[in-house]
Amino acid sequence: MRTQVAIIGAGPAGLMLAHLLHLRGVESIIIEARSREYVEGRVRAGVLEQGTVDLLNETGLGERMRREGLLHHGIELGFSGKRHRIDMKELTGNAITVYGQHEVVKDLIQARIVAGREIIFEAEDVSIHGLDGSTPIVRYKKGGDAHELQCDYIAGCDGSHGVCRPSVPAGVLTTYERDYPFGWLGVLADAAPSQGELVYMNHERGFALFSMRSPSVTRLYLQCSPAEDINNWSDDRIWDELLLRLRGDDRWQPNVGRILQKGITAMRSCVTEPMQFGRLLLAGDAAHIVPPTGAKGMNLAIADVRILAKALLEYYTSGSAVLLDRYSQICLRHIWKVQRFSWWMTSMLHQFPDASPFDKRRQIAELDYVTTSLTAARSLAENYVGLPIESNDLL
Ligand code: FAD
Ligand code: DHB
Repeated sequence: MRTQVAIIGAGPAGLMLAHLLHLRGVESIIIEARSREYVEGRVRAGVLEQGTVDLLNETGLGERMRREGLLHHGIELGFSGKRHRIDMKELTGNAITVYGQHEVVKDLIQARIVAGREIIFEAEDVSIHGLDGSTPIVRYKKGGDAHELQCDYIAGCDGSHGVCRPSVPAGVLTTYERDYPFGWLGVLADAAPSQGELVYMNHERGFALFSMRSPSVTRLYLQCSPAEDINNWSDDRIWDELLLRLRGDDRWQPNVGRILQKGITAMRSCVTEPMQFGRLLLAGDAAHIVPPTGAKGMNLAIADVRILAKALLEYYTSGSAVLLDRYSQICLRHIWKVQRFSWWMTSMLHQFPDASPFDKRRQIAELDYVTTSLTAARSLAENYVGLPIESNDLL
């Protein structure tokens, strides 16, 4: 088998890359380790930046998102028992849309199937070869049979535990990382959201986040120990803790309902540089992880492949690899700004086990500043709705 671009991974990065290439006539095949049902059912991020929303609309994928997505003009930051609104629309002219990552994934898979293009699900033993030559190869097994796919480029969109990044020879890549001494326990609850906007709460018992997925489903997160066992968290214990942390002086609280799904995610910041080696181009979580507090993971994955698609299209239309050669450099400039924001939001809102009384007071002062200074609030808002890729970088 042969294709122009072999894409490893059918997450938001791989699927969106395939879609953008297909719209401009470049052929690709997606190879995914999991089943379609698994990929479509994986509940993760939920906040789409304006740029992600625009891209979905511009490429014909926005119909269901416009119908079912929830447009939010602001968010609330809570601390010391009170919630404070950041009006993103007024501060930046932009907004965010709450629409689950797995809904975006479903829409992308549907578009791929309608286009008659291939996704190979449940591929086993995926491996990549010949990255420093002109015809790299992907090998995989499906149903016990071995297959080989030749291509011009391999897009490594296989997430943080994939095979692409570890296939680069030792010494080529550098990873910059930071672990956090906590994780998030996330739940999906069969309960109508008790208010229209997200609440990020700094509480002395730990961070809590109130979010939603639809007019009848609430999404909530609790800061927990990174090694926490989900089996220690009964539904009653989860609700007790959520109510303790989220209930403010005005007695507002989330509506309680049946817990439909629960899970724990560790928190990490990491960036791999460069994001390319020979004919392999890394995108999304395969190259970087952000802690989820800024809601940036999926948006960053989409931003990467937007640049990658442009670079690949330039190569296929003019034969020039100039933009492809600069792919990593262009992405990294944006990624580091988003890393900074995600680290800053995480640091401002969580309880750190080693925080001194000084650190705690400084943290509250930071929240006080950001919720009272229009200049500080605008800085938060412009990062939250999404920084643009520097347009000069794409020339
Ligand atoms: P992924 O979505 O990870 O997609 C990679 C794909 O590659 C997967 O489908 C995987 O099955 C496939 N794959 C892996 N290995 C192989 C292989 N060897 N061969 C073939 N295919 C392979 N972000 C937020 O902003 N907010 C959140 O609340 C949030 N929650 C999260 C919860 C969890 C548990 C995780 C893991 C991430 C969360 N994120 C969150 C981050 C966000 O979901 C990711 O940034 C986003 O999924 C990145 O998209 P991606 O396409 O790069 O990678
Ligand atoms: C959601 C996740 C986030 O990481 C975040 O910052 C806001 C909302 C969510 O899943 O709804």
